[in-house]
Amino acid sequence: MNSAPSRRPLALVTGASAGIGYELALLFARNGYDLIATGRSDNIHKVAADFEQHGAQTIAVQADLADHQGVENVWQAVAKTGRPLEAAVLNAGRSIGGAFLDTDLDDELGLIALNVTSVVHLAKHVARHMAERRRGRILITSSISATTPTPYETIYGPSRAFTFMFAESLRHELKEHGVGVTALLPGATDTDFHSRAGMDNTALGPGARKNSRRVVAQQGYDALMAGKDHVVGGDRATKRTALINRVLPEPVKAARQERFTKPRT
Ligand SMILES: NC(=O)c1ccc[n+]([C@@H]2O[C@H](COP(=O)([O-])OP(=O)(O)OC[C@H]3O[C@@H](n4cnc5c(N)ncnc54)[C@H](OP(=O)(O)O)[C@@H]3O)[C@@H](O)[C@H]2O)c1
Repeated sequence: MNSAPSRRPLALVTGASAGIGYELALLFARNGYDLIATGRSDNIHKVAADFEQHGAQTIAVQADLADHQGVENVWQAVAKTGRPLEAAVLNAGRSIGGAFLDTDLDDELGLIALNVTSVVHLAKHVARHMAERRRGRILITSSISATTPTPYETIYGPSRAFTFMFAESLRHELKEHGVGVTALLPGATDTDFHSRAGMDNTALGPGARKNSRRVVAQQGYDALMAGKDHVVGGDRATKRTALINRVLPEPVKAARQERFTKPRT
């Protein structure tokens, strides 16, 4: 990292080492922000060079956010800069595919620790920090899965339903403190997400039609900057599905979802 003092605003992006988070971090870099970019793997140190190419002083933090200390380490990296955080993107997350009767409980509790607990934990630090200065923007990645039951991804969808309503609730509270909160609800997106979730043997596996991660990230970035409460990330069909999900009964949506998520035998 170049250590000369910077006048650029500072943004935190979790899950910046891959996928949607990487694209979001690139957008912040291109739009004049410095970065604290986090990832679980050491890939975060490699991709930091991509952000720096756009002039962003980048602090790469490798941390497991499913671990309490991992979240604290990320926040310590922010605090250590002594700089105000203008934007925070709480994006790191994962899924687990498979039948609930077969999936591993510890793995699922780890998913909740990452997708739910770490978001609340980091948001507590970020919200207090921003409210004190009466400025800042928070983008929380949820999913279109927040709007439907998700059989065969039975823990994932509810974890994203939590982040969606958490973002909307926090937004309402923080409005009077001058801080904006936006939720990003991507539809299926072309990252390694489903493969990492062990879902190659489903209709969401290789060859499935998915949204561009660049488009999804741009939509999230634009919605954050426009002060929107949430945005569905993806093409017209994805946005239409999100709209229809508002009125379809849950059992109907569960049966539709199964066609995408149930492992092929
Ligand atoms: N792709 C989709 O279809 C889709 C749809 C709706 C919502 N989303 C949401 O979008 C967000 C990003 O997903 P993506 O598609 O970009 O997935 P991805 O390509 O797999 O990237 C996930 C990111 O999260 C990080 N991460 C995973 N586990 C972590 C842990 N325990 N501690 C810290 N960081 C961790 C990864 O770090 P490493 O790579 O370094 O391990 C990576 O940077 C997630 O919250 C997901 O729920 C995705």
